[in-house]
Amino acid sequence: MVPIKLFSLAAAILSIAAVLAAPTSNDQLVLESKKPRPLVIWHGLGDTALSSGISSFIEDIKSIHPGIFVHSVQIPEGGSLDDERRAGFWGNAEDQGWEGCEQIASIPELEGGFDGMGFSQGGLFLRFYAQYCDGPPMNNLITFGTPHFGISALIPCPTPPTLSCLLAARAARAGIYTPYAQTHIVQAAYFRDTERLDEFWEVNSFIRDLNGEKGLGGDGQGNGGEEDEEKGKNGSGKGVYGLENFVAVMFDQDRTVSPAQSAHFATYSPSNKTLIIPMDEQPMYTGDWIGLRSLDSKGGLKLEHCPGEHMNLGGEGGCGERMVRDWVGWAA
Ligand SMILES: *[C@@H]1O[C@H](CO)[C@@H](O)[C@H](O)[C@H]1NC(C)=O
Ligand SMILES: *[C@@H]1O[C@H](CO)[C@@H](O)[C@H](O)[C@H]1NC(C)=O
Repeated sequence: MVPIKLFSLAAAILSIAAVLAAPTSNDQLVLESKKPRPLVIWHGLGDTALSSGISSFIEDIKSIHPGIFVHSVQIPEGGSLDDERRAGFWGNAEDQGWEGCEQIASIPELEGGFDGMGFSQGGLFLRFYAQYCDGPPMNNLITFGTPHFGISALIPCPTPPTLSCLLAARAARAGIYTPYAQTHIVQAAYFRDTERLDEFWEVNSFIRDLNGEKGLGGDGQGNGGEEDEEKGKNGSGKGVYGLENFVAVMFDQDRTVSPAQSAHFATYSPSNKTLIIPMDEQPMYTGDWIGLRSLDSKGGLKLEHCPGEHMNLGGEGGCGERMVRDWVGWAA
């Protein structure tokens, strides 16, 4: 389910080779002066930093942007593959966020700034970096199928299911808004049940704060009145305004993230689970609690689409490749 699908970029490699074959002296100068900005990748649930899918994706990125430095975040650093897979399901999301901050800040190649590319829940951790961490600046943030406004149902386990996933799902069902689940199950940290918003606002601190909803509560309906707007705008750190570009990609056939539109900051309506409240009607957006609206006003927010199911990047020439060409590897 969540591990990414490979895409081969043979055509891209050929076109770059053709440019390199007969450079004029001007081309050479341009190539030499344009060192691409480094990239940090944060994988999705059930995947690992250097799985075969991620590794071949990195190879493809390197053939599109020769010379690019790519780091794939590993949590826990130095852990076994099992430790890594387990950490996608089990753990304290906030602690994992801080661990990512430290890991990124410790890499000399990233000192001058970098772009972030997050797959599914990995996109939340990279947004966490942008909002809370003091390390080098993140320029472009690209997220694929990231549940930016949470999920209203658990992510389905893969087929065949892994034990980590089954156990986490069982524990989550037993009480998603218990302090235990909130600090031990990663999905609970972004589980935002629109029918239980009061509980969510009270016990959640991860995605609630990422989205500036810390001060909410009260009638629990988030009616968007002035009072609600004042109660919001808290806990979101620096917000997202400092990003150069925030490219949020939604998978149009996504049946993994509920609702799929969460990738674009939409949620179900609290009173009607078949009605989607779009980003521009969310108090968080209209009240500019995390700088999303300001970023949008200056042209830095891009709501993009991939046509397929969750994490289907579309193969050669598909939307994954398009995002890599358009938003990654700019001159440092
Ligand atoms: C934000 O939340 C903290 C902790 O709950 C509180 O002490 C602080 O006054 C709040 N700030 C604003 C601006 O609401
Ligand atoms: C919920 O929203 C859907 C889609 O807009 C609409 O068709 C339906 O009538 C609504 N149901 C209620 C109970 O309001």
